[in-house]
Amino acid sequence: MTDLNDIVSAASTAFAQANTPADLENAKALFLGKSGRMTELMKGMVALSVEEKKSRGAAINVAKQSIEAALTHRRQALADAELQLQLQAEALDVTLPGRQRGAGGLHPVSLTLERIEAIFGSMGFDVAQGPEIETDWFNFTALNTPEDHPARSMHDTFYVEGGTDKAPLLLRTHTSPMQIRYAVQHVKKYRAAAGDASEGLFAGDMPEIRVIAPGRTYRVDSDATHSPMFHQCEGLWVGENVSFKDLKFVFTDFCRTFFESDDLVLRFRPSFFPFTEPSAEIDIQFASGPLAGRWLEVAGSGQVHPNVIRNMGLDPEKYIGFAFGMGPDRLTMLRYGVNDLRLFFDGDIRFLSQFQ
Ligand code: DAH
Repeated sequence: MTDLNDIVSAASTAFAQANTPADLENAKALFLGKSGRMTELMKGMVALSVEEKKSRGAAINVAKQSIEAALTHRRQALADAELQLQLQAEALDVTLPGRQRGAGGLHPVSLTLERIEAIFGSMGFDVAQGPEIETDWFNFTALNTPEDHPARSMHDTFYVEGGTDKAPLLLRTHTSPMQIRYAVQHVKKYRAAAGDASEGLFAGDMPEIRVIAPGRTYRVDSDATHSPMFHQCEGLWVGENVSFKDLKFVFTDFCRTFFESDDLVLRFRPSFFPFTEPSAEIDIQFASGPLAGRWLEVAGSGQVHPNVIRNMGLDPEKYIGFAFGMGPDRLTMLRYGVNDLRLFFDGDIRFLSQFQ
């Protein structure tokens, strides 16, 4: 029977040396396979007597069981090792710090726009939004801007496809077209309410127009203080008795509230815009701080030109008012002491997170 013991121990050794399931199955074939050593032994029994077959068969079976047990044991050991490897590979280090999300916040220019809306809102101004792709009519013609005005040239303005020769389309160069859009709707509404079906200029009664229109504007311009996309906020107040003194009062009040500075002073410097007459640039001066003593331009303004009042559908003999257009990007730079406009549009989190 030593041959059987030898085979069992040879099988155990072979199984122990098999380091993968595939090697183990190959080793198994050597002993238990069709032409494996145990099968060969069985075949060898043919020549034996019945008595010998009995005892030899029993011994072979015992040996076979030992080999199968060794095989099962090794299979389990290999499967366990495999599982351990997998667990190690997929292990989570629960002591690692979590990934920080950080709190988001509003862009500094958005903070300024919110502030502008809140301040003018408290003075009874409505807030209106309008299209960024404008028609030549609303952007220029209705605003009394002549055909040969430089702003209309290709060098200054982004024209876009989809318009016609007579009615070109462009990215609005300012928020002023909203004066016309808003006023036309307003007049239409109150003309209907007054039962006035005529098409002429409206001289009936209506509530005053008091609106601001913040938004994005576009010009072919790019340096430290100009960006091809920038923000503007338009203001318009039209009524029966709205004069330049109201403009001065409203804008002074706005600037002092916006910059939280009661000793801030304003200068209305004579200027020219086609849609206002008279027109003025508005400069401000801080009494203290790093910018103290310098005049800083913040807006264009003026009394709305009679032609523009007409294009709103109103009779300029009855309705007058003022308008202004300011630059929220500029106001943001002044408020926070930022000296390069491009920082607002670079999307650098290190810069932006300082405003949260
Ligand atoms: N639209 C002018 C610009 O972009 C700014 C402006 C000036 C707006 C005078 C006005 C105004 O409403 O009255 O330069």
